[in-house]
Amino acid sequence: MSAAHGIRTLGVLGAGQMGTGIAFVAALRAKVPVLLHDRSQDQITKGLALMDKLLDKDVNKGKIQSIDAKEARERIRIISSSEGVKALRDVDMAIEAVSENLSLKEKIFASLTAELNPGAILASNTSSISITKIATSTIPQGSTAASEEGKQSAGRVVGLHFFNPVPVMKLVELISALQTTPETLERARAFAIACGKEVTVSKDVPGFVSNALLMPFINEAIMCLEKGTATRDDIDTTLRLGMNHPMGPLQLADFIGLDTCLAIQQTLYTGTGDSKYRPSILLERMVDAGWYGKKSGKGFYDY
Ligand code: 3HC
Repeated sequence: MSAAHGIRTLGVLGAGQMGTGIAFVAALRAKVPVLLHDRSQDQITKGLALMDKLLDKDVNKGKIQSIDAKEARERIRIISSSEGVKALRDVDMAIEAVSENLSLKEKIFASLTAELNPGAILASNTSSISITKIATSTIPQGSTAASEEGKQSAGRVVGLHFFNPVPVMKLVELISALQTTPETLERARAFAIACGKEVTVSKDVPGFVSNALLMPFINEAIMCLEKGTATRDDIDTTLRLGMNHPMGPLQLADFIGLDTCLAIQQTLYTGTGDSKYRPSILLERMVDAGWYGKKSGKGFYDY
């Protein structure tokens, strides 16, 4: 156990691309046992298959020894939906990585508060939702925000924003809610570093730093396509070759998930009340159509 983060076991809620990636770096880099929970068995099967593929690739490339891969894989235990959040009761930190839906997150954080020990850190991988609001949802009924119990509960909530693909991207953006204690922030920082990441810190504003800058850029690219300013390929090629971006903004939107992009852009729009953040109609319609990008087989590109 690292003295700095004090995490002997980690819980991860959500086995989508982000949750799986977080479980992967925690088990391989931080060498922490992980309990990975998802309601969907199908999601878990896909996540584990991806982890096995990534571990095999790293072994074949000589980046890690096969014993490291085996040990990392053994550190990950799946928690089925029938076992539920109760099975996470002894973890020292839980990271929520479910879809961008405030009421779903509030429900999860309320059950984490009920089941986990009071010293456990409760982190959210949200891309844009208010960490302060999530922290408030952990205050037990009958307590107030100003009570010792209320302050203690909300004070252990923090934003831990990983980037996709988690095994590759070097950053974690740490977000402090109004209530987050300095101890929670420092332990979360130490954990991200143990996962092999560099850390930046942002205040709890819509989109934090990363998505307050990235998502309007993607939204503008979609508006360019909507207005017929240029073709899909010309928009992406302009940014790839003209600005050295690893992928163009439309391909990146597909890669993040168009439903996620829309949810973040809507949070920027409603969270600031500023019309400059209005989501592109084309983006809204593509999400209406179920064209979520890479994960659904169709977005700006076909997969
Ligand atoms: N999972 C794990 N590893 C992956 C991966 C995945 N999904 N996709 C690619 N990789 C690995 C490859 O295995 C390879 O590893 P290696 O060097 O050990 O062989 C390495 O990444 C490079 O892959 P490729 O050579 O196949 O392809 P590229 O050179 O095109 O790199 C990329 C792929 C790293 C994804 C690159 O295209 C890139 O950097 N794209 C932009 C990513 C980005 O901007 N991410 C942030 C999204 S925003 C976000 O997450 C925040 C959220 O809130 C919205």
